[in-house]
Amino acid sequence: MKMLEVRDLNVRYGVVRAVLDASLHVDEGELVVVVGANGAGKSSLLRAVAGLNKHRGDIELAGSPVAHLRAEQRVKRGLSLVPEGRHIFGRMSVLENLQVAHWGATTDLGSEISDAFARFPRLEERKHQTAATLSGGEQQMLALSRALIRKPRLLMLDEPSMGLAPKIVAQMFEIISEINAAGTSVLLIEQNARMALSIAHRGYLMETGTLSGGGDARVMLDDERLHEAYFGKSPGAAS
Ligand SMILES: Nc1ncnc2c1ncn2[C@@H]1O[C@H](COP(=O)(O)OP(=O)(O)O)[C@@H](O)[C@H]1O
Ligand SMILES: [Mg+2]
Repeated sequence: MKMLEVRDLNVRYGVVRAVLDASLHVDEGELVVVVGANGAGKSSLLRAVAGLNKHRGDIELAGSPVAHLRAEQRVKRGLSLVPEGRHIFGRMSVLENLQVAHWGATTDLGSEISDAFARFPRLEERKHQTAATLSGGEQQMLALSRALIRKPRLLMLDEPSMGLAPKIVAQMFEIISEINAAGTSVLLIEQNARMALSIAHRGYLMETGTLSGGGDARVMLDDERLHEAYFGKSPGAAS
């Protein structure tokens, strides 16, 4: 089954056309990544799928059309977004952030919080700490935990590596990979192309609003053109 199917999606801001006839899909259980440079339209695409942007085109979640639904209704259908910049509630504690994210959900809050703390022991240690005082990595852990608290069918992540130290980035990607392996379909947007493709099943490339590719992520990792444009030097290369 296709968890997400997007057909001919368009997003524009006045005269700026941010997403042009974009089509992509995520199969059930898949981890799909969209890579592309800053300003390519990646966030606009993801926000449109989440219902946070005005858009034209077809969007189906698990076979049902959702393009006409508001963002909250899409969340109820099993779609969850960790937005760029995380958007946690800075003045609330870690625990309060999780509680608020659970409002209206049908999952068991206590067991979801236990799951979150098992995944990120660091969050449990800081459960009464104000979210704004967490490190960048801890804030990203909290943002991810908030998104998972309703047990989404499709988890969408907008540049989870942004602003994080390389070691934390590696941890974050490992956890995303584990969440996917446990059954959640994932659509990941990243500038960090090499790292993202290394955990993905398939990948798309976004360039000035246009999506291409959709093939095997390992093949994309070996693509010469992608190498030059997006990966920079290989780790072992001389400077
Ligand atoms: N709210 C907005 N109003 C006007 N233009 C926007 C807005 N958001 C994004 N854009 C423009 O749309 C294009 C794509 O932006 P974005 O989707 O944020 O790309 P990415 O996430 O790949 O960096 C850029 O040219 C950006 O300047
Ligand atoms: Mg973006």
